[in-house]
Amino acid sequence: MVKILHDSDADISALNGKTIAIIGYGNQGSAQALCLRDSGINVIIGETETLNGNPNRSWEKAVSDGFKTMSISEAAKSADIIHILLPDEFHGPVYKKEIRKYMKPGKVLSCSHGFNIIFKGIVPPADVDVIMVAPKSPATEERKAFLAGFGVPGLFAVRQNPSGKAKEIALGMAKAMGFTRAGVLECTFEQETYEDLFGEQTVLCGGLVELMKTGFEVLTEAGYPPEMAYFECVHEMKLIVDLIYEGGIQKMNAIISNTAEWGEYEIGPKIINAATKVRMKKALKDVETGKFARKWLKESKNGAPNLHAKRKALGEHPVEVVGKQIREMFEHK
Ligand code: NAI
Ligand code: MG
Repeated sequence: MVKILHDSDADISALNGKTIAIIGYGNQGSAQALCLRDSGINVIIGETETLNGNPNRSWEKAVSDGFKTMSISEAAKSADIIHILLPDEFHGPVYKKEIRKYMKPGKVLSCSHGFNIIFKGIVPPADVDVIMVAPKSPATEERKAFLAGFGVPGLFAVRQNPSGKAKEIALGMAKAMGFTRAGVLECTFEQETYEDLFGEQTVLCGGLVELMKTGFEVLTEAGYPPEMAYFECVHEMKLIVDLIYEGGIQKMNAIISNTAEWGEYEIGPKIINAATKVRMKKALKDVETGKFARKWLKESKNGAPNLHAKRKALGEHPVEVVGKQIREMFEHK
């Protein structure tokens, strides 16, 4: 079993006298910056005032949340720990333009996802510490759990450690964000990056969305009302996942009917079968060899036309159209 670290294994004083620059005040940036500040850490924000020619709402939010907010290069210059929380596809270009020249000996380069270190969007100099501190959670849940006096679980990794203090710093950050209250695992950059990409592609986001959409399509194409299909294939998903989260698959099975449990054993493996597993293994290979990353970075470099087209198409899919109507119906009731 891997060792899970808790509050008593970490010390926030590793961050004494240090300034952390959060680069990118988006989903993770805002949640992590607020938690760090609540734990007494000196935090500054590196952001851009405008983005694609428009005022940047993240900049405005950082200012209104009371943070010292400045350009990315200014923040990288002033801080000891530079924690990059930009969208992954922009780490490389922004690092080269605004951060690289300030990565002097003694500094710490940090992130919440190893993508750019592994796929070489960022190649840090050998004389800086390189760490990762990552929540295993969406940002909203992370902040909510922290404010409730607890935290979400997290991962940390040390890639370069010329100071000899990289691990203490990573653990100090994890503690200051509440992760060690829930439990933190040490891993490598490779493990976090490959596992994270594989999980989101095949199970959590890609797998789940296609499963729900396909189920919805089969029912509606057979003439069943879309509202019913939405309840069946999307809405109830949360109720089922909540039970598994609380007590595992067997707890869920004990609460659903025997008929549902029998259907799970009898039909489930015919839907997600050995051929699915072969395709999942291929997806893992494409992650590990960098094939997936190369394609995504190329898409992003070209302005992400396919991403935008797919986003638009999903918005027009009946599961989203009906879902929106149904959720509105239930709001404030
Ligand atoms: P995000 O999509 O919320 O963006 C962060 C901020 O970056 C934006 O608010 C924007 O002001 C700025 N930005 C966007 N494009 C830019 C550009 N071209 N140049 C300069 N600034 C730009 O990012 P998110 O989802 O918070 O992800 C940040 C990091 O955290 C990523 O490395 C991600 O893999 C990691 N992560 C994210 C999780 C999540 O729940 N979203 C969970 C765990 C890790
Ligand atoms: Mg993930």
